[in-house]
This record gives sequence, C-alpha cells and structure tokens, in this order.
Amino acid sequence: MAPVDLVTQLLDRNKNAKLYTGAKTFFQEESFEKKSQTRYGFSSNLKQGYRQMIDRDTCHFLQAWFDQYVDGFAAGPEDVQKNIILKKKHSERVRNEIIQIGKILALGTDAQRVAEITALFHDLGRFEQYARYKTFVDYKSENHAELGVKILQKNNVFNCLPKDLADFICRVILYHNRARLPDRETTECLFHARMLRDADKLDIWKVVIDHYLRQEKEKNNAIELGLADTPGISDMVYDAVVNKSIVDARLIQNLNDFKVLQIGWVFDINFAALLQQVRSRSYVALICSTMPPSERLENIMRIVTRYIDTALECENQNEFMVFRKNNCNQDFYDEK
Ligand SMILES: [Fe+2]
Repeated sequence: MAPVDLVTQLLDRNKNAKLYTGAKTFFQEESFEKKSQTRYGFSSNLKQGYRQMIDRDTCHFLQAWFDQYVDGFAAGPEDVQKNIILKKKHSERVRNEIIQIGKILALGTDAQRVAEITALFHDLGRFEQYARYKTFVDYKSENHAELGVKILQKNNVFNCLPKDLADFICRVILYHNRARLPDRETTECLFHARMLRDADKLDIWKVVIDHYLRQEKEKNNAIELGLADTPGISDMVYDAVVNKSIVDARLIQNLNDFKVLQIGWVFDINFAALLQQVRSRSYVALICSTMPPSERLENIMRIVTRYIDTALECENQNEFMVFRKNNCNQDFYDEK
C-alpha cells in the first residue's frame, strides 16, 4: 500500500477512534518494573508516563506521516536537499540504534515502540530549521527540539495516541538536546530521554567520523558548522575535557575544538552497554586520527580511553552509574 493511502486510511480510522480498541495496559507487565529495578537502578513510577500499548497500525501511521512530511522538503536547492536527506537518514539510524539498545536492555514491546517513536521524531524540527534558516545551529536559529514539538502539535500528529503518552513522547523529544535533564520528572521519562540521548550520540559520531575520514571530502558547513580547520586546541576546551566535563559549545573556536567536544560526549553516555559500543567502534581513536598530533591530543586520548576502560570494568549498570557520577562533571552539554 502506498504511504499516502495508508495515511488516509489511518487518519480515517483515527477519526472514528477505532485505533485503540485492542489497547492494553503496558505497566500491568510487572516484569518491566522488576527488570528495570534490577538492571537499570530505577523504579518505574506507574502514576505518570505511558500506560497504553501502541499498536502496529499506529506505528505504521506515524512512520508514513514522517515520510510524507519529510518528502514535503523534496523540492529545494541542492544544498538544502543534501542536509534534509542527512537528517532523514540520521533519524532512521537513531531509530535503528535505539532498537539495538532496546534489545541490549531487554525492553518490552511497548517500551520499545515508545523508544522508536521518540527516535524517529526527535529531530523533526531539523527539516524546518534548515529549510528556513540554512543552519543546524540552534543559537543562530531556534531550538530544534522545541520547533519539532510545535510542528507535531500543530499537525495533531500524536492525536492517534492517548494524551498522556503523547505528552510523554514530546517531553522526551524536548529533553534530547537539553543542557541538563530536569530534576522533576518521572523515572521512565528520564530513562527514555537518556536512551534517546545515547542513541543520538552514537549516530552523530558515525556521521561526523564518516565525514572527517572521507578522503576527498567536500566541505559541509552543516556538519563542521563553518569552523576553521586551524591548528591547536583552545585552553578552555582542553581543560573541560581533561576534567571529564561536557564541553560548552560556546567555547568552540575551531574544528579541532569541535572534535574534542565530540570526544567529550563519552562522559555523557548513560548506559554501560552503549559505552561498550563506543569502545568497540573505536569512535574516540577514529576522531583523534583526523586531528594533528600534539601533546594535548595525546593527553585527551589517554584520559578518555582510561575513563572508558575503567567504566567498563563496572560489574553492572548500577555500579556504572555510581562510577560516572563520581568521575564526570556534567554541567554542560552541547546542543545536537
Ligand atoms: Fe537533535
């Protein structure tokens, strides 16, 4: 069935409120609560958050809406097209990353579907942002997470979901590029926000590393932010990363600083299983390999590699969270 037909059909079904006749209560599955407590060190707050199962038709509808929305940006200049496709592929890969994360964390079907929806829609604002402002830099345009949620609300996209679930997903999307996660939030919402932030970073590393390694690379200001490829790493950027802090994006002076900021994301990884992925994919070494050798770079690589290796000696996720809390400063976080 063509996506447009599917959308029409599902919109009709939605109008008639037939989508949720088979819905069941997700958190009746006690196993998720038990698994969550033992594996991830949190207890689900059943009073808030999502409670109803998302059926397969709803997932298809949301995917079809997303595809159709992005196709709406198809008739633009070549430069815009390139970056629209970049973000479309990124959204799809973040979804794939989150599927893998869900498998590693043994999520149930419903939690998995919620995670997939947050991943697919997390950068929805990027398309409008690039089309309108020709940049992915939020402070030069507007916050892309907030823009995405405005677009979702304006188009009533999540009307096919129960209201509390729609709110839950929007909050996870809003948190994905925040400097800090809010203190007052439900444990399951923070859990999904952390998973999304990790999945997002895993794919951004892939995108930027592919770009840095490409032999005859074309310059892409949307990736390199128009930064000059000048020598050296700025003092404050260097100090932040060797102190295991997230580098503040406002300190970035050149492309090397930006690469160091990206290396420093390891300190913001929330799940040991994900940090394991970072190590097995050699992300840190690969970024370093694209930078000119220097004593500062050597120190950064040594400190970051040691952090990863020591963190991965933790016996479980709880131990990892304590290790991370005691070893990282998480005051700043770059917009992505
Ligand atoms: Fe984003």
